[in-house]
Amino acid sequence: MKVFLTRRIPQEGMKILSTGGVCEVSLWDSDEPVPRAELLKGVQGAHGLLCLLSDKIDAEVLDAAGPNLKVISTLSVGYDHLALDEIKKRGIRVGYTPDVLTDATAELTVALLLATARRLPEGVEEVKNGGWSSWKPLWLCGYGLSGSTVGVIGLGRIVPFGVKRLLYSGRTAKAYAAEVNGEFVPMDTLVSESDFIVVSCSLTPETQGLCDKAFFSKMKNTAVFVNSSRGAVVNQEDLYEALTSGQIAAAGLDVTTPEPLPTNHPLLTLKNCVVLPHIGSATYSTRGIMAALSANNLLGGLQGKDMPSELTF
Ligand code: NDP
Ligand code: DGY
Repeated sequence: MKVFLTRRIPQEGMKILSTGGVCEVSLWDSDEPVPRAELLKGVQGAHGLLCLLSDKIDAEVLDAAGPNLKVISTLSVGYDHLALDEIKKRGIRVGYTPDVLTDATAELTVALLLATARRLPEGVEEVKNGGWSSWKPLWLCGYGLSGSTVGVIGLGRIVPFGVKRLLYSGRTAKAYAAEVNGEFVPMDTLVSESDFIVVSCSLTPETQGLCDKAFFSKMKNTAVFVNSSRGAVVNQEDLYEALTSGQIAAAGLDVTTPEPLPTNHPLLTLKNCVVLPHIGSATYSTRGIMAALSANNLLGGLQGKDMPSELTF
């Protein structure tokens, strides 16, 4: 059976595919995204497709693949790049990589939150550019987590650092929230009462543009906003306005629209906005495990067997 990989993936995944004796692999042999024309060509006649979150898998790709396609395995937990309605219509199975990247993403989210709240990039810059003249009582002061209220939109696993209250919102209350004394509250309560807001929900039609002018206007002026979900959950013009008007204190973003964010983007001119290049799951070991899981998902789907992580939709 023929499979097409839209990118080079870590060797943990390549090894599984090349030694399984199940499929013949062809790939876009690069670390950069596959051009659309190459994707449409490469997928032709494939039984399996292993893709990344930067590949838009829509009706055009599925039509180009043709009727052989049995399984799509994405090397990501997010699946907003997949046209699930079209995939379902064609009876194609989908594998993804939940759980294995949760810890790495939670670590990065906390690191981003602290870097933003405690102004680390500004501090590093001042050391390099000679702005560090002496120890000064209020210079580079920020906001601490201790004693604060943290609000999480889409509760995942976050290290609470002795925070006073951990609020979360979503569609349903979570039993595991009890482990971190999480209180399930309406979104408005979370937005207005939190000192730190962490967005870690999936991108869906309901969450698209969720963090907009009205959202930011309900936040405390001293609150710090962090997004490690998907860029499109945030209206970036409204965020820029909130950051420059003093409506909110600071923002840390691991995800943006578009990606990469153009280097002349207004958000990059702000000292109170820290932008990272979508590195939530970027540890060597996590990416290796994701690659192996996506390869095993692909093999399971090709052979009509159980997939270790199959998306139900
Ligand atoms: P899960 O599916 O476990 O969690 C999704 C969360 O989104 C749930 O808590 C869910 O809450 C919440 N959610 C869904 N719809 C809404 C809504 N309308 N309003 C509020 N909350 C909502 O996925 P993960 O936690 O593993 O990952 C979440 C997302 O984070 C991924 O989809 C991906 O986009 C992003 N991600 C980014 C990474 C990075 O590198 N920056 C790394 C990993 C993930 P409920 O169950 O109550 O609906
Ligand atoms: C995902 O898996 O959805 C992340 O955005 C990248 O690991």
